[in-house]
Amino acid sequence: MIKTSKLVMIPGPTPVVRSIQEQMARETVAFGDAAFVKDFSDVVADLGAMWRCGGETFVVAGSGTMGMEMALANTTRRGDDILVCSNGYFGDRFIDMCERKGLNVELLSAEWGSSVTPAMVELALSSKRFSAVTVTHVETSTGVEAPVAAIGEVLKKHPGTIYIVDGVAASGGAEQYMDTMGIDVLLTCSQKAFGVAPGLTMVWASEKAMDRRKTLGAIPESYIDFDKWLPVMHDPSKYWGTPAINLVWALKESIRIMKEEGLAERYARHRRQAAVVASAMEAIGFSVAAQPQYRAPTLSVFFYPEGARIDDAKFRAVLADEGAQTAGCLGAFAGKGFRMGHMGNIDKHTLVSAVAAIERTCVKCGHRVELGRALGVLQQGLIDE
Ligand SMILES: Cc1ncc(COP(=O)(O)O)c(C=O)c1O
Repeated sequence: MIKTSKLVMIPGPTPVVRSIQEQMARETVAFGDAAFVKDFSDVVADLGAMWRCGGETFVVAGSGTMGMEMALANTTRRGDDILVCSNGYFGDRFIDMCERKGLNVELLSAEWGSSVTPAMVELALSSKRFSAVTVTHVETSTGVEAPVAAIGEVLKKHPGTIYIVDGVAASGGAEQYMDTMGIDVLLTCSQKAFGVAPGLTMVWASEKAMDRRKTLGAIPESYIDFDKWLPVMHDPSKYWGTPAINLVWALKESIRIMKEEGLAERYARHRRQAAVVASAMEAIGFSVAAQPQYRAPTLSVFFYPEGARIDDAKFRAVLADEGAQTAGCLGAFAGKGFRMGHMGNIDKHTLVSAVAAIERTCVKCGHRVELGRALGVLQQGLIDE
């Protein structure tokens, strides 16, 4: 039998469609090449407009973690108080990062599967002036979407506080509007709902965030300093660090795809497909880790059926052989199930193949399911897509 190809169904990187792959495979040009400079300018302008950012947009080679550091480096200084709202592993990542920078961290954390609430943030902000608040839009360890807009409403009453949102597992798949949501710094990267290979960090900074940057003067960081990149973002023929030329082209193609689909429809599609995939999984006994009101549109953590006695490592290895790579659970959820991405430029073929592979894997791992049961639910849900 011919080896089954593997769909990348981990929560990022996500499947990269052919037209984006082709951009990455192009012959690399000089970063001063006039056509590339125009492409880079267009990418920066499009991202700013699509995310309704009144300030500045940065596209820099790096991963999502670098975006987190870039957000902190440009809006806080040693000794500042910072409120970290954490719903799991990636929310917690801000703690160490802040402490290394000499920031005083106050932590608001939610039970895994749930979220920090606007009321919790309101209470914390009423007790002290924080220079910044961090929120992880979609927490990749739990599949929880934080109420980013409602927390933004609370932040609007505290104009001295910078609202930092980690959009790594959300941007391009979940609604993000810098202006109405009151977000000051939004960070994300290329390999999740943008459907590009890993390697680019995108950071949007509101006017308020840029004003904060001005008050900091020279900052200790160099590569991630907004001031170093600003001239390049305004005129990409200028140099600070070599741009990831082929990834910028790939991002341009990803943006073209997003515009063609329409951002509002793209967000709605992600919510519909997340609900359909969850129903399909529930039909064969799996459960969703995130509480219903916090289920993310971009990825899910699925717990193994109760009493099924599934060996986690074996299940995911068989599933990969059957054609779908998924990720193991982290922290409090380790061994209880798997994490699956359903974001980016994925189509019906991808979802159907992934769920079919899960059904075959259940049977192969001794969990008796009726083949086609989850697929039937999925197919029904995809009829009107
Ligand atoms: C919510 C969130 N934040 C930050 C990161 C870190 O991004 P990267 O692995 O690209 O550095 C991840 C990675 O999965 C993530 O899911």
